[in-house]
Amino acid sequence: MTQSMENELTVRIEAPAETIMVTPLDLFVRDLIQQFPAFSKSEGLVDMLELAFHEAFTNIGNHAYRSELKGRVTVQIRVSLQQLEFRFEDNGESFDPEKVPTPNFEGPCEEGLGIWLIRQIMDKYLYHSENGSKNVLRLIKDIPGSIPDGILSRDHGTK
Ligand SMILES: Nc1ncnc2c1ncn2[C@@H]1O[C@H](COP(=O)(O)OP(=O)(O)OP(=O)(O)O)[C@@H](O)[C@H]1O
Ligand SMILES: [Mg+2]
Repeated sequence: MTQSMENELTVRIEAPAETIMVTPLDLFVRDLIQQFPAFSKSEGLVDMLELAFHEAFTNIGNHAYRSELKGRVTVQIRVSLQQLEFRFEDNGESFDPEKVPTPNFEGPCEEGLGIWLIRQIMDKYLYHSENGSKNVLRLIKDIPGSIPDGILSRDHGTK
Protein backbone atom coordinates (compact mmCIF):
# COMPACT_ATOMS: atom_id res chain seq x y z
CA MET A 1 0.00 0.00 0.00
CA THR A 2 1.35 3.43 -0.88
CA GLN A 3 1.95 6.09 1.77
CA SER A 4 -0.87 8.31 0.45
CA MET A 5 -3.32 5.41 0.60
CA GLU A 6 -2.44 4.87 4.23
CA ASN A 7 -3.16 8.52 4.97
CA GLU A 8 -6.50 9.01 3.22
CA LEU A 9 -8.62 7.09 0.80
CA THR A 10 -12.12 7.70 -0.51
CA VAL A 11 -14.13 5.19 -2.53
CA ARG A 12 -17.59 5.81 -3.97
CA ILE A 13 -19.92 3.07 -5.18
CA GLU A 14 -23.35 3.58 -6.69
CA ALA A 15 -25.61 0.55 -6.58
CA PRO A 16 -29.24 -0.51 -6.34
CA ALA A 17 -30.40 -1.13 -2.76
CA GLU A 18 -31.12 -4.76 -3.66
CA THR A 19 -30.45 -7.86 -1.56
CA ILE A 20 -28.10 -9.12 -4.27
CA MET A 21 -25.72 -6.24 -3.46
CA VAL A 22 -25.51 -6.85 0.29
CA THR A 23 -22.88 -9.60 0.49
CA PRO A 24 -20.62 -8.22 -2.27
CA LEU A 25 -20.59 -4.80 -0.59
CA ASP A 26 -20.03 -6.26 2.88
CA LEU A 27 -17.05 -8.21 1.56
CA PHE A 28 -15.67 -5.21 -0.30
CA VAL A 29 -15.85 -2.99 2.78
CA ARG A 30 -14.26 -5.67 4.93
CA ASP A 31 -11.45 -6.31 2.48
CA LEU A 32 -10.76 -2.61 2.07
CA ILE A 33 -10.64 -1.55 5.69
CA GLN A 34 -8.62 -4.48 6.92
CA GLN A 35 -5.72 -3.32 4.76
CA PHE A 36 -5.32 -0.21 6.90
CA PRO A 37 -2.90 -0.48 9.83
CA ALA A 38 -5.52 0.88 12.26
CA PHE A 39 -7.77 -2.12 11.59
CA SER A 40 -5.51 -4.88 10.30
CA LYS A 41 -4.61 -6.10 13.78
CA SER A 42 -8.16 -6.48 15.05
CA GLU A 43 -10.41 -8.89 13.21
CA GLY A 44 -13.06 -8.30 15.87
CA LEU A 45 -13.16 -4.60 15.07
CA VAL A 46 -13.35 -5.32 11.32
CA ASP A 47 -16.27 -7.71 12.03
CA MET A 48 -18.09 -4.98 13.93
CA LEU A 49 -17.48 -2.34 11.26
CA GLU A 50 -18.73 -4.71 8.58
CA LEU A 51 -21.84 -5.34 10.69
CA ALA A 52 -22.52 -1.60 11.06
CA PHE A 53 -22.15 -1.14 7.31
CA HIS A 54 -24.41 -4.14 6.65
CA GLU A 55 -27.18 -2.88 8.94
CA ALA A 56 -27.14 0.60 7.43
CA PHE A 57 -27.23 -0.67 3.83
CA THR A 58 -30.01 -3.19 4.50
CA ASN A 59 -32.06 -0.54 6.30
CA ILE A 60 -32.07 1.54 3.12
CA GLY A 61 -33.22 -1.44 1.06
CA ASN A 62 -35.88 -2.47 3.60
CA HIS A 63 -37.19 0.86 4.85
CA ALA A 64 -36.19 3.81 2.64
CA TYR A 65 -37.21 1.80 -0.44
CA ARG A 66 -40.16 -0.25 0.70
CA SER A 67 -41.59 -1.16 -2.70
CA GLU A 68 -40.38 -4.13 -4.75
CA LEU A 69 -38.46 -1.95 -7.15
CA LYS A 70 -35.49 -0.65 -5.17
CA GLY A 71 -33.90 2.73 -5.76
CA ARG A 72 -30.21 3.46 -5.78
CA VAL A 73 -27.74 4.13 -3.02
CA THR A 74 -24.46 5.97 -3.21
CA VAL A 75 -22.06 4.52 -0.69
CA GLN A 76 -18.89 6.39 0.16
CA ILE A 77 -16.14 4.92 2.30
CA ARG A 78 -13.49 7.29 3.56
CA VAL A 79 -10.53 6.21 5.63
CA SER A 80 -8.09 8.76 7.04
CA LEU A 81 -5.56 8.63 9.84
CA GLN A 82 -8.24 9.86 12.26
CA GLN A 83 -11.49 8.37 11.09
CA LEU A 84 -13.41 5.82 9.13
CA GLU A 85 -16.61 7.13 7.59
CA PHE A 86 -19.40 5.27 5.82
CA ARG A 87 -21.70 7.67 3.97
CA PHE A 88 -24.96 6.56 2.38
CA GLU A 89 -27.17 8.63 0.11
CA ASP A 90 -30.63 7.49 -0.97
CA ASN A 91 -33.72 9.01 -2.53
CA GLY A 92 -36.27 6.99 -0.64
CA GLU A 93 -38.48 7.71 2.34
CA SER A 94 -36.89 9.66 5.13
CA PHE A 95 -37.27 8.98 8.85
CA ASP A 96 -36.27 10.38 12.21
CA PRO A 97 -33.65 8.15 13.90
CA GLU A 98 -34.18 10.00 17.20
CA LYS A 99 -37.73 8.61 17.31
CA VAL A 100 -36.59 4.97 17.00
CA PRO A 101 -37.05 3.36 20.42
CA THR A 102 -34.27 1.44 22.16
CA PRO A 103 -34.86 -2.30 21.68
CA ASN A 104 -36.74 -4.07 24.45
CA PHE A 105 -34.28 -6.66 25.69
CA GLU A 106 -36.81 -8.15 28.09
CA GLY A 107 -39.07 -9.76 25.49
CA PRO A 108 -38.35 -11.66 22.27
CA CYS A 109 -35.98 -9.37 20.46
CA GLU A 110 -35.74 -10.25 16.81
CA GLU A 111 -36.27 -6.90 15.17
CA GLY A 112 -35.41 -3.30 15.71
CA LEU A 113 -31.78 -3.95 16.56
CA GLY A 114 -30.02 -2.44 13.56
CA ILE A 115 -29.73 1.19 14.59
CA TRP A 116 -28.97 0.25 18.18
CA LEU A 117 -26.13 -2.00 16.97
CA ILE A 118 -24.79 0.68 14.64
CA ARG A 119 -24.76 3.18 17.52
CA GLN A 120 -22.88 0.70 19.73
CA ILE A 121 -20.21 0.17 17.08
CA MET A 122 -19.75 3.62 15.56
CA ASP A 123 -18.95 6.89 17.35
CA LYS A 124 -21.44 8.97 15.36
CA TYR A 125 -24.73 8.26 13.59
CA LEU A 126 -25.56 11.43 11.64
CA TYR A 127 -28.70 11.53 9.50
CA HIS A 128 -30.35 14.31 7.59
CA SER A 129 -32.82 14.66 4.78
CA GLU A 130 -32.44 17.34 2.10
CA ASN A 131 -35.66 18.79 0.61
CA GLY A 132 -37.39 15.52 1.38
CA SER A 133 -35.74 13.95 -1.65
CA LYS A 134 -32.21 13.05 -0.61
CA ASN A 135 -31.35 11.28 2.63
CA VAL A 136 -27.80 11.26 3.91
CA LEU A 137 -26.52 8.95 6.63
CA ARG A 138 -22.96 9.32 7.91
CA LEU A 139 -21.47 6.74 10.25
CA ILE A 140 -18.18 7.76 11.79
CA LYS A 141 -15.66 5.73 13.73
CA ASP A 142 -12.74 7.55 15.30
CA ILE A 143 -9.56 5.56 14.97
CA PRO A 144 -8.40 4.45 18.43
CA GLY A 145 -5.21 6.16 19.51
CA SER A 146 -5.21 8.71 16.68
CA ILE A 147 -4.78 12.43 17.22
CA PRO A 148 -8.16 14.16 16.63
CA ASP A 149 -8.54 16.14 13.41
CA GLY A 150 -7.62 19.81 13.72
CA ILE A 151 -5.16 19.55 16.62
CA LEU A 152 -2.14 19.22 14.36
CA SER A 153 -3.18 22.15 12.19
CA ARG A 154 -3.50 24.55 15.15
CA ASP A 155 -0.41 26.47 16.26
CA HIS A 156 1.09 24.55 19.14
CA GLY A 157 4.46 26.25 19.21
CA THR A 158 5.79 24.54 16.09
CA LYS A 159 8.19 26.64 14.02
N1 LIG B 1 -32.43 4.21 6.17
C1 LIG B 1 -33.68 4.22 6.67
N2 LIG B 1 -34.66 4.88 5.99
C2 LIG B 1 -35.93 4.91 6.48
N3 LIG B 1 -36.31 4.35 7.64
C3 LIG B 1 -35.38 3.71 8.36
C4 LIG B 1 -34.02 3.62 7.91
N4 LIG B 1 -33.31 2.94 8.84
C5 LIG B 1 -34.18 2.62 9.80
N5 LIG B 1 -35.42 3.07 9.54
C6 LIG B 1 -36.60 2.96 10.43
O1 LIG B 1 -36.14 2.75 11.75
C7 LIG B 1 -36.62 1.50 12.27
C8 LIG B 1 -35.56 0.83 13.12
O2 LIG B 1 -34.48 0.37 12.31
P1 LIG B 1 -33.58 -0.83 12.85
O3 LIG B 1 -32.52 -1.12 11.86
O4 LIG B 1 -33.13 -0.48 14.23
O5 LIG B 1 -34.58 -2.03 12.99
P2 LIG B 1 -35.26 -2.91 11.84
O6 LIG B 1 -34.60 -2.63 10.53
O7 LIG B 1 -36.73 -2.67 11.93
O8 LIG B 1 -34.95 -4.40 12.31
P3 LIG B 1 -33.52 -5.15 12.21
O9 LIG B 1 -32.50 -4.14 11.78
O10 LIG B 1 -33.26 -5.66 13.60
O11 LIG B 1 -33.75 -6.22 11.21
C9 LIG B 1 -37.06 0.71 11.04
O12 LIG B 1 -38.08 -0.23 11.35
C10 LIG B 1 -37.53 1.80 10.09
O13 LIG B 1 -38.84 2.19 10.41
MG1 LIG C 1 -32.55 -2.74 10.37
